[in-house]
Amino acid sequence: MRLPGGCSPKCVITIFSRRVLRSYVPVQGRWRCNVAAFMPEAAGFDGVSTRTALQDYSVSNSESFWAAVARQRLSWIKPFTTVQDCDLSQGRIKWFEGGKLNVSVNCLDRHVHTCPERVALIWERDEPGSEVKITYSHLLEMTCRLGNMLRRYGVQKGDCVTIYMPPCPLAVASMLACARIGAAHNVVFAGFSAEALAERIRDAKSSTVITVNQGVRGGKIIKLKKTVDKAVENCPSVQQVFVAARTDNPVTMTPKDFALEEEMMKEDVVCEPAVMDSEDVLFLLYTSGSTGKPKGLVHTQAGYLLYAALTHRYVFNYHDGDVFGCVADIGWITGHSYSVYGPLANGATTVLFESTPIYPNPGRYWEVVQRLKINQFYGAPTAIRLLLKYGDEWVQKYDRSTLKTLGSVGEPINTEAWEWYHRVVGDRRIPVVDTWWQTETGGICITPRPSEPDAEIVPGMAMRPFFGIKPVLMDSEGKVLTSNNTSGALCIAQPWPGMARTIHNNHQRFIETYCQPHPGYFFTGDGAYRSKEGYYQITGRLDDVINVSGHRIGTAEIEDVVNLCSAVAESAVIGYAHDIKGEGVYAFVVLKKEVNTQSADLSKQLNDTVSMKIAKYACPDYIQFVKRLPKTRSGKIMRRVLRKVVERDLNGLGDLSTLDDPAAVQEIIQGHLELC
Ligand code: WT7
Repeated sequence: MRLPGGCSPKCVITIFSRRVLRSYVPVQGRWRCNVAAFMPEAAGFDGVSTRTALQDYSVSNSESFWAAVARQRLSWIKPFTTVQDCDLSQGRIKWFEGGKLNVSVNCLDRHVHTCPERVALIWERDEPGSEVKITYSHLLEMTCRLGNMLRRYGVQKGDCVTIYMPPCPLAVASMLACARIGAAHNVVFAGFSAEALAERIRDAKSSTVITVNQGVRGGKIIKLKKTVDKAVENCPSVQQVFVAARTDNPVTMTPKDFALEEEMMKEDVVCEPAVMDSEDVLFLLYTSGSTGKPKGLVHTQAGYLLYAALTHRYVFNYHDGDVFGCVADIGWITGHSYSVYGPLANGATTVLFESTPIYPNPGRYWEVVQRLKINQFYGAPTAIRLLLKYGDEWVQKYDRSTLKTLGSVGEPINTEAWEWYHRVVGDRRIPVVDTWWQTETGGICITPRPSEPDAEIVPGMAMRPFFGIKPVLMDSEGKVLTSNNTSGALCIAQPWPGMARTIHNNHQRFIETYCQPHPGYFFTGDGAYRSKEGYYQITGRLDDVINVSGHRIGTAEIEDVVNLCSAVAESAVIGYAHDIKGEGVYAFVVLKKEVNTQSADLSKQLNDTVSMKIAKYACPDYIQFVKRLPKTRSGKIMRRVLRKVVERDLNGLGDLSTLDDPAAVQEIIQGHLELC
């Protein structure tokens, strides 16, 4: 028997390979990676000697797998009594009941006991070279002060605090302060408009909002407090707004506003953690669906934290002492799970990135990798596509030798972008992991790693399910497709601890959206292809949700806003393939009879409305004014036809016989050619 590297075998031998310490053991006459060294919990799993076997075990013995992991990875105040009580067909999802814990204790106190001076956060501020480091003991102190402050202002266990801040230590401490006192948080991406923010504050019934005076991004000042002022005018529930000072510029303060730093400095640095049930709410996070109203997905304490921590550890091959660089905004689930909860639960040093990929120049990411010595870099394909256009020099200028894993998230990564990421950024030596997941799944579900240590990675494919995840593909009749080399609707066949539990205030919508389309399965809304080898590739949404620069938005949400304009009779919005953004927004607009202007003014007015009501990223790239929309005789807009026109696939228009008025299509084609 030969050991990789040619050494002679003893019983267990440890070798150095590519700077990673690996142990090998003989299994059935072959050298195998020692799974117990890979995952200590696995030592107790009968007959599990390879990572592939561990994956199988995690799915077929899901309870025993998750129980062992939960006992060892989380610190419990009281151990759980039931591992799971789930029925996907009923929309009932409960994990680790009977257990009591506090998430902030898991993310902070236990690391403060072992390594208080370890850096928890590196705040990579907009201006390169001005980063701020916060140790675990400092972050605990900030969190405790904020927890005490929130309690003093009447925030109680079960309340929901809205946070409207860019990535910064005070934002993270605010999230953890909520967790400390048992309040839920509702982080709203600081790019959302006042109206979008107000809608989310009202739905969450927050009495408290935490924000900053101004944001700083790409060298520009963003007046966030002003946006909050406008939002709060229409939110009767709001009693107080805490304003942190990101810049020295004063902002107008109303009687409801309090300076955050001043208030927190009045507080003690010790704050008794609330004793939380596993299934108490940890946070709401609003995301878009196929209807107009955004939904507040609910994640709970133990299961979410465990799943974020485990995926962070194993997908990225995170080890103690690594610097983890997720450049997502904390306003999205990626920021929640991989800038905050996953890394902090594992005691990592995590980066909070305030800037943009091209400020002050397109070398920014790699300059940060060099300066902060980042070991895992996690970003979005839209940024990679943008950067590759600027050329390789911007990457090659900087030392990237600390990098061990490159991750991609949020949207499909095309082969060109994947190859560039791997070849230029990763010098062909680093695994690139495309990670598929959603706000709903809480953490990564399909991704090439972990796997057997050197298993192949296919460009642009998410490939393999994570521990405990059992993906299935469904055909249009709702039957499970069992063969390979086939495509279908992507569902997950059994519950996992990280999944969302419900939609805030609307459990019925949760059941209808995720549980009823394929009873007994969790329906993701995505389509996927399973290759001959059994690897998964995500093919895109099956509903009217689109993905603009990695930001998720419902076309119905944009239509609702466009239709609000007084000149508009009706509209249809679709996504189309965009070089950099992944998808762009294309709006077909029918004006009211009495309106005869089709001027640029009107386009601008529509754009301003979308930006004011939702966010800038949701603005249409093209607005085509049409006399009528293609509709079926029953009045349904045929979006398929509109998509084909925009894709210039006129042969693929398909069956038009159900169209109410076939002439509509000719007009639309003509108008499209004139516009683009
Ligand atoms: C939707 C979820 C993943 C967390 C951030 C976005 C699309 C996500 C991939 C990927 C292809 C992807 C899906 C999914 N998506 N990751 N690796 N390959 N598509 O979370 O805002 O909830 O969006 O993003 O369509 O359903 P989200």
